Amino acid sequence: MSERMPMIEMRNVSKHFGSVIALSDISMEVYSGEVMCLLGDNGAGKSTLIKTLSGVHQPTHGELLLGGEATRFKSPAYALDAGIATVFQDLAMIPLMSITRNFFMGREPTVGWGPMKRIDWKYADRIAKQEMAKIGIDVRDPSQPVGTLSGGERQCVAIARAVYFGAKVLILDEPTSALGVKQASVVLRYIAKARADGLAVIFITHNVHHAFPVADAFTLLARGGSLGTFRKEETTREEVLNMMAGGAELESLDAELAEFQRSDSERKADADGSEASGTRLAAGQ
Ligand SMILES: Nc1ncnc2c1ncn2[C@@H]1O[C@H](COP(=O)(O)OP(=O)(O)OP(=O)(O)O)[C@@H](O)[C@H]1O
Ligand SMILES: [Mg+2]
Repeated sequence: MSERMPMIEMRNVSKHFGSVIALSDISMEVYSGEVMCLLGDNGAGKSTLIKTLSGVHQPTHGELLLGGEATRFKSPAYALDAGIATVFQDLAMIPLMSITRNFFMGREPTVGWGPMKRIDWKYADRIAKQEMAKIGIDVRDPSQPVGTLSGGERQCVAIARAVYFGAKVLILDEPTSALGVKQASVVLRYIAKARADGLAVIFITHNVHHAFPVADAFTLLARGGSLGTFRKEETTREEVLNMMAGGAELESLDAELAEFQRSDSERKADADGSEASGTRLAAGQ
């Protein structure tokens, strides 16, 4: 393989919260124009990992590199300025505020200067409408509250914002988990577009049907540790599904369900038997 420089990289990163070890010795590389899917059960450390990449948490050990340079983000604002845009699991949006306000969120364009300086809402509305249209969402009135958009469209506002402000790395924590098939496909299409635009994308999902079509590689987390990174061409949908669900757990669930079914049908047979004898008894009287 040719030598490529990862856009963003973690080297031996650990994160402790008091005595809780949320991440332990994680190394991961994500390249421009690629989607890395982070897989793992609830509590595996996925959100902690991306929060460590985006300045919410400081790593306890290890280092982060952005474009090959060792770096540290004091806060999410620093990470954002460096080009790391994150759409958190608990989506940071204000439902009653307009689409435009949510799109710019503190970075509104201004006109005039000195005491005459004010936000240029006309321009802001136009940009918000235009950027949403680029991803196929027709917003009639960008001054309408963001709460009137569907869940998928709201995710798209957050992603469109990241791309518009020139992110190099786009991090998405379960953006499709609460969405129906159609809405999820809108978000997935946009992830594919961000990748085609050359962003390095980190995508967390529990859904193999969402992960497999857009991913270039998968990193599997379990109890804060990494079980490795797999390139898509080296793996199959079934293997990824097993990694996500924990194949062993599913097998034991299978056995448990079979046992339920067996005892259930025994109980039914018993009930049928006693019913039948009851009928015989009644007939004999
Ligand atoms: N601020 C914190 N303080 C203490 N423990 C924390 C903190 N944040 C996360 N943890 C712990 O770290 C572990 C990993 O949590 P994390 O939220 O990263 O999991 P996750 O893989 O994102 O799970 P899910 O799929 O449910 O979102 C959990 O045991 C959690 O309780
Ligand atoms: Mg999480």
